[in-house]
Amino acid sequence: MQFPKKLSTKLAQRKENNSLRILGEHTNLIDFSSNDYLGFAKSEVVFDKTHQFLIDKNIKINGATGSRLLSGNHNLYTEVEKELSEFHNSDAALIFNSGYDANIGFFSSVPQRGDIILYDELIHASIRDGIQLSKAKAYKFKHNNLFDLKEKIVRFKPNENNDVYVITESIFSMDGDSPDLKKIVQVCEKYKANLIVDEAHAIGVFNNGLIEELGLEKGVFARIITFGKALGCHGAAILCCNSLKEYLINFSRSFIYTTGLSPHSIATISFAYKELQLSNSREKLQTNICFFTEEANRLNLNFIKSKSAIHCCIIPGNENVKNIAKKLEKIGFDVKPILSPTINKGEERLRFCLHSYNSHQEITFVLEQLATFVS
Ligand SMILES: Cc1ncc(COP(=O)(O)O)c(C=O)c1O
Repeated sequence: MQFPKKLSTKLAQRKENNSLRILGEHTNLIDFSSNDYLGFAKSEVVFDKTHQFLIDKNIKINGATGSRLLSGNHNLYTEVEKELSEFHNSDAALIFNSGYDANIGFFSSVPQRGDIILYDELIHASIRDGIQLSKAKAYKFKHNNLFDLKEKIVRFKPNENNDVYVITESIFSMDGDSPDLKKIVQVCEKYKANLIVDEAHAIGVFNNGLIEELGLEKGVFARIITFGKALGCHGAAILCCNSLKEYLINFSRSFIYTTGLSPHSIATISFAYKELQLSNSREKLQTNICFFTEEANRLNLNFIKSKSAIHCCIIPGNENVKNIAKKLEKIGFDVKPILSPTINKGEERLRFCLHSYNSHQEITFVLEQLATFVS
C-alpha cells in the first residue's frame, strides 16, 4: 500500500527544515530536560508508600475498568479530589487523565457559541486544541501584555448573554516566565471576565501554585493543575466551583469518553502531595534556580528572565541550536533544543529545566561550556 503523498510531503518538509521530530532513547545524561523538577518521578518514598497503602487496603487492581461515569470511578477518586480541593483552597477538584485532556475538555465544552475566548499568544498547545474545538470565537493577546488584554476585554465586553473567558499560564511552559497575575485578576474582575489559569509548571515549584501563593483563588474561575511535572506522576485536575465540576462531568467529552486513571495512579497522586509537604526538595530546587541565574548572568548568557524551573537561552536557527544541544550531549548533558515551528522562527532556544537534584558543579560546568559554544 502506498503512503499518502500529502503526508510524505509534510515529512519531507520537516526534514528539509531540520525540524523532524524523532523519539529519543532513554539515556544516563545529566538531566536538564525532564519536568521531574523535584525528583518525585524517581522517589522510592512515594513508590513504597503508595505500594504499601494499596496492599493494606487490598486494592489489587491494575486498571480502572471503564470511564468514570460507568465502572471506573474507584472510591479513591472521591478521597483524592477532596484532598486536592482542600490542599488548593478550592471548592471542588475534578481529576482528568492528563493536562492535555483537562484543557481539551475544558475549552471544548465551557465557552459557548457567542462567547469570546482571549488567550495569551504563547499558550500551550493543549489549550489551543481545546479552543479549536470550541464554538466560541477566540482572539489572542500579546504575550504577558496587560495593556493588549485590557484593550480586547473592553472591545469584547461580556454582557448578559455572552461571557468572556481569559486564559493564561502562571508559568509559561516555553519561556518559564509569568504574567502579572494580580493585575490580570483585577482586570478580569473589573470587566466580569472569567479567568482560567494553567498552573502546570507552577505546582510544586512555587508552593501550591502561584495563584495560591498570591492569594488569588477567589479571583479565578478555574485552575488547571497537572501531576506529570513536579509531582512526578500522572494526571491533572481542574480546580473550580461545584457547579463547574458538575457541568464538566456532564459535558466535557475528554472526561466522559475515556477510561479513568487506575486506582494506583490516583493513590500515587495522593502520596506525591504528602511528599511535597514532607521533603525539602522544593527548597533545594529554589536554591538551584537562584544559583543558575547568578551563573548565567556571570557568563553573560542570553537567557529569558525567569524565576521558575524553566530557563531558555535564545540561539536562533534550528540547525544552530540543534548543534549546540548535540555538543552538550557529547559532554554528558541532556538539554533540549526547542525548534521552529514549535516556536517562532528566529526564537529557537535551548530549554534548561532545573531540578532539586542538579548539583552546583553541574550547573556551573554546563553553563561554562555553553558560553564557549555560543561565543
Ligand atoms: C502549560 C501546560 N499545560 C498542560 C500540559 C499538558 O499536561 P500533561 O502532560 O499532563 O498532558 C502541559 C505539558 O506539556 C503544559 O506545559
